[in-house]
Amino acid sequence: MKRPQQSADMAPEQNGTTTVPTLGFGTYRTGGYKCYNAVKNALDCGYTHIDTAMAYENEAAVGRAIEQSSVDREDIFLTTKIKGYPEMVEYERLIEAAKGCLERLGTEYLDLLLVHWWNPLADMEETFNALNTLVDDGLVGQIGVSNFSIKELKQAMRLSDAPIATNQIEYHPYWGDEELVRFCQDNDVTVTAYSPLAEGRAVEDDVLRSIGDRYGKSAAQVSIRWLIQQENVVTIPKAATPKHIEANIDVFDFELTDRDMRRIRKLKPPFWYRENREGGSIYEARSVLGNFVPDSLYNRIA
Ligand SMILES: NC(=O)c1ccc[n+]([C@@H]2O[C@H](COP(=O)([O-])OP(=O)(O)OC[C@H]3O[C@@H](n4cnc5c(N)ncnc54)[C@H](OP(=O)(O)O)[C@@H]3O)[C@@H](O)[C@H]2O)c1
Repeated sequence: MKRPQQSADMAPEQNGTTTVPTLGFGTYRTGGYKCYNAVKNALDCGYTHIDTAMAYENEAAVGRAIEQSSVDREDIFLTTKIKGYPEMVEYERLIEAAKGCLERLGTEYLDLLLVHWWNPLADMEETFNALNTLVDDGLVGQIGVSNFSIKELKQAMRLSDAPIATNQIEYHPYWGDEELVRFCQDNDVTVTAYSPLAEGRAVEDDVLRSIGDRYGKSAAQVSIRWLIQQENVVTIPKAATPKHIEANIDVFDFELTDRDMRRIRKLKPPFWYRENREGGSIYEARSVLGNFVPDSLYNRIA
């Protein structure tokens, strides 16, 4: 696979004492051999930042791909996440869970460990004590959070001695919480934008396509570029298809103009996208239907 030319732009987002590489490789909804192949391809292609999670149930496949790749472990930035269930983020359970991640990933340390989401029934002080212990013991390089609101993030920052390196949140041309992004930017917390392609739905967008045409780039590449061109924002597109893996890292040889950036920010999510999201009417209808329709039929229509 061809290694795309990487510019100084590829340099990690350095924020105070924390560092998160600008472009990572997502692994949600892939497992087994498919995940192994994708991660191995990604490493061959030049990605150095791999994102997984306990909840994805693919840490073993990710670990095997890293072990069998030609890239040294110390040249890879490996992130995983602990499930945010209250019992999982208790002090002892969290330490045990992190050790489980290390074992499945076949590594002696994690570059970044995140709490995947927050449940208000959990004790955040206990959680951050455990995360800080993991850092002090050298098992984890940096810690961070995911899907945290401003209020939760403020509390985490107050409770943790180690800096909160990132808040991994949904952010792409169709979706973003601008206030939360600004809060992170103002407080040295890198935003890791997840679902940068709106789970593949933005790749057909006419506006993104027409902007991309001017640079010889696809809508997907424009979407990724739009994110990483923002201050203190990094992103982690997922792809299993080799040509997508290759294309998504080939985003460092063009620059969107301020006008492009503004135009993309103003994009409205298409109707079907909005209504399929949690809280949208199609989503709600499906949730109700789910109670009455047999699984075999539901899976075909949902
Ligand atoms: N912290 C959290 O709660 C959370 C939640 C969701 C996601 N994430 C992380 O963020 C990562 C990315 O988000 P995501 O997986 O939800 O979605 P995504 O990256 O927005 O989109 C992935 C989809 O886009 C397709 N695709 C990728 N590159 C493409 C290209 N160049 N052209 C056309 N199609 C392309 C992929 O197809 P192929 O696979 O066929 O190539 C796949 O169907 C996840 O994998 C995960 O690591 C975190």
